[in-house]
Amino acid sequence: MKTEVLPASAPGTAARAAEVIRSGGLVGIPTETVYGLGANGLDAEAVLKIFEAKGRPQDNPLILHISAADELNQICHDIPDAAWVLAERFWPGPLTMVLPCRAIVPRRTTAGLDTVAVRCPASDVTREIIRAAGVPIAAPSANTSGKPSPTTAAHVLHDMDGKIDLIVDGGACRVGVESTIVDLTGDTPRLLRPGGVTPEELEALLGSLVVDPAVLGEIAPNAVVRAPGMKYKHYAPAGEVTILSGPSEAAAVFVRRHFSPGDAVLCFSEELPLFADFNPTAYGSESAPETLARGLFSALRGFDDTGARHIFARCPEGGGVAYAVQNRLKKAAGFHIITVPEEDTP
Ligand code: TXA
Ligand code: MG
Repeated sequence: MKTEVLPASAPGTAARAAEVIRSGGLVGIPTETVYGLGANGLDAEAVLKIFEAKGRPQDNPLILHISAADELNQICHDIPDAAWVLAERFWPGPLTMVLPCRAIVPRRTTAGLDTVAVRCPASDVTREIIRAAGVPIAAPSANTSGKPSPTTAAHVLHDMDGKIDLIVDGGACRVGVESTIVDLTGDTPRLLRPGGVTPEELEALLGSLVVDPAVLGEIAPNAVVRAPGMKYKHYAPAGEVTILSGPSEAAAVFVRRHFSPGDAVLCFSEELPLFADFNPTAYGSESAPETLARGLFSALRGFDDTGARHIFARCPEGGGVAYAVQNRLKKAAGFHIITVPEEDTP
């Protein structure tokens, strides 16, 4: 299959993408979070192609993307007031809600669950595609399963060239990490994945929020988890990632001791001088966590291009968007974290 790439701004792009979706094909779609791999979410056969193109386990459900909050009624039932409050405040935007699912949604999309994850993305062209297609678009991140999510059309092409019909190039993603997922099907709203909408913002609006234990802890391989995707190794470059936690200077001492040729350093821009001898990659500024979110996946992908075998990584502390960055980086590291200085000073 030849994969076509069209600029989001070109006339006719949305109509062409909608046509591919309606005819059961796959389209790489830009969103403010990461690029999605879209298909008609109500067509089980089209949805199956998503799993095949990504190499995604079929017990991992997909997010349905809608163009406006009122479309929720078509795919969900027993929608709580909290959902409308969140939609009003955060949609279109990087928030996904898990809600009770109507029978119109194929079980292939929800991986057999009786709930469905839904979001209304902020990208104008993508909402236009959804409207023109007239169906919700099921879209996971457009990466090969297990790899860092794509934040540019070039990343999507790298992973999906020859496997999908079309990529809509909407430029680099503004947020850079996947949407925040909140489950509204229980007694208390539950955070399943942190993202661009922060836990603090959700709590302020909802009054209470439970953080699912899977969010920042390692999960046993057979554990039952609320967001099935959270049990898989994720966001990982080919090289092994080790997070160095602690002061910058101590991390630099650690790297100086342990760095071998072929290793790499992922750090904050503020730390570039400290790691200057190790050809460091900065993914953003520690003082502006949203820049870290925006730069993380692209930087992780860069290590595959250079063939880094081992990556020493610096991870931001704290809440807000930094919380989402921690979650992704810790998963990329398989929760391998070293607190520096770990050994005696010389
Ligand atoms: O920002 C995003 O959310 C991007 C863009 C393309 O919208 N999409 C995305 O999809 O990140 P994906 O498939 O990479 O991640 C979806 C996550 C998975 O961890 C999946 O297990 C979880 O959402 N999920 C989907 N349906 C669910 C449900 N009914 N209950 C709980 N978790 C669900
Ligand atoms: Mg994904």
